[in-house]
Amino acid sequence: MSDYTLMAEQVKALAEEDRQFIPVLSNASALIYETIEDLNWAGFYLVRDDKLVLGPFQGKVACIHIASGKGVCGTAWEQDKTQLVKNVHEFAGHIACDGASNSEIVVPLHDPKSGKVVGVLDIDSPTIGRFDEADREGFEILAKALEECIDWE
Ligand code: SME
Repeated sequence: MSDYTLMAEQVKALAEEDRQFIPVLSNASALIYETIEDLNWAGFYLVRDDKLVLGPFQGKVACIHIASGKGVCGTAWEQDKTQLVKNVHEFAGHIACDGASNSEIVVPLHDPKSGKVVGVLDIDSPTIGRFDEADREGFEILAKALEECIDWE
């Protein structure tokens, strides 16, 4: 079982006690941060009205609001598509919360009932090119598990 499949099983097991987004996403950010090597930030932004708002995370203090289409997170939301950024300094409009970040992957999260994007999973690394297609696939498996085990309404 890969680290990602294991984390997906762990978040599902943890959510059996409570399906609210705060405990599930808080534990998910902790699991990711302690399981995956070479990260400096792991957490969530949640869609609230017309913007993304900072959610549960591990790492340094981060920006609180991100508009649709802005930065890597706002782009993932607007395009409803995972953004795998090998070098954040080459991504036009990247928002630097932690100067140590050099690569990033952002995966949209959906409410399975409406199909709408309800937030994004955002992972940062100090290493350029830290994430590859296997990480994309893994984080998308984890995102799907989170989508299904949280009561989004
Ligand atoms: N780098 C992100 C902002 C959030 S921090 O990485 C925590 C972006 O460009 O959207």
